[in-house]
Amino acid sequence: MKVLIVGSGGREHALAWKIAQSPRVDKIYCAPGNAGIANYAECVDIKAMEFDKLAAFAKDKAIDLTVVGMDDPLVGGIVDVFETQGLRVFGPRKNAAILEGSKAFSKDLMKKYNIPTAAYENFDDPQEALHYLETEANFPIVLKADGLALGKGVLICNTLEEAKAGVRTIMEDKQFGSAGNRMVIEQFMTGREVSVLTFVDGKTIKSMTSAQDHKRAGDGDTGLNTGGMGTFSPSPFYTKEVEEFCEQKIFQPTVDAMAKEDREFKGIIFFGLMLTENGPKVLEYNARFGDPETQVVLPRMKTDIVDVFEACIDGTLDQIDLEFEDNAAVCVVLASEGYPVKYEKGYEIRGLEKFKETDGYYVFHAGSALRDGKIVTNGGRVLGVTAKGQDLKAARENAYKAVEWVDFDNKYFRHDIGKAIDEA
Ligand code: GLY
Repeated sequence: MKVLIVGSGGREHALAWKIAQSPRVDKIYCAPGNAGIANYAECVDIKAMEFDKLAAFAKDKAIDLTVVGMDDPLVGGIVDVFETQGLRVFGPRKNAAILEGSKAFSKDLMKKYNIPTAAYENFDDPQEALHYLETEANFPIVLKADGLALGKGVLICNTLEEAKAGVRTIMEDKQFGSAGNRMVIEQFMTGREVSVLTFVDGKTIKSMTSAQDHKRAGDGDTGLNTGGMGTFSPSPFYTKEVEEFCEQKIFQPTVDAMAKEDREFKGIIFFGLMLTENGPKVLEYNARFGDPETQVVLPRMKTDIVDVFEACIDGTLDQIDLEFEDNAAVCVVLASEGYPVKYEKGYEIRGLEKFKETDGYYVFHAGSALRDGKIVTNGGRVLGVTAKGQDLKAARENAYKAVEWVDFDNKYFRHDIGKAIDEA
């Protein structure tokens, strides 16, 4: 098979690595890819939102399967464009990717189908949102821009003044662009966060092993929100009992609800969950693999991922035996100092070769480029260093050991990824 991957981050690097394990695959392309993905795939200079160019490329190269990693093209309808042209593609159509593309839609869906989530109101008008905050809200409270905002459109506000400023930021100043045309105001939930990625074929849903992300930039969950500074898998808080609840009350009901709404979902549903004292609730849905969750989940997956992608497309996921190793993995993201605000790029990355020689250790490139024969930093998040271990403690020790193998100027990382494991 020839496979095309759409995307350019650490998630797509992990996908390329996993797809390359499949004996069915002869050739992988990635558009646009990065310097690490180039170890497994031929990188193609087409951007993820250039649907017609991507489809023309897929036809020209007789691509058998396209896998879309990123949210923007999915929400923008890349799957519909490929399908219209007779191309086989893994991911939800536009009318299903709305599960991630509109937070107001997803909250209404959960309310309609009794899927546990925080209480909320949707607003199209900033004056009505301000009035609601002044008359009905309890603090802290959560403001969410409706659309995609690079993971930055969620504001946790501790006071009325902060919340009023947040409404202006989202709906009037349009800091997140048209994503802020609508807004969700949601009750603040406390508890443990868990990410569960699932494969879905329109009717059947199969969960991958659980993970937990660390979204804040600094140690001890301080600083600004980022795309994710590190992950561990599995989450010790996602017990068998919690899993059973989620499968019965959240996962299957979501798939069934989408089908009932004539929005059949095929692809990945990534459930962002909060384990509250009143039980698990949905924080958010994503319609794609998580980043950097993928970097700890896929190294533990035993099943051929190409078989699973095909089963999702064909509606035969019930025949797949999805298996994961009985171990653990930790990913520590190496970022450029100053991320997520202002940082420099173009520094040489040294020490990558050691990962090629060491089983159970992986370096997934998030923002790297090849310049004059050298691999250099090319983004805020630069690398995800993943290590496996027999348990979470061992995986964490291994990951932090491997973090020292790589070096570049302005290297920055959190020192407490997976620290929560100690409290389990
Ligand atoms: N790690 C969070 C996300 O992928 O959205």
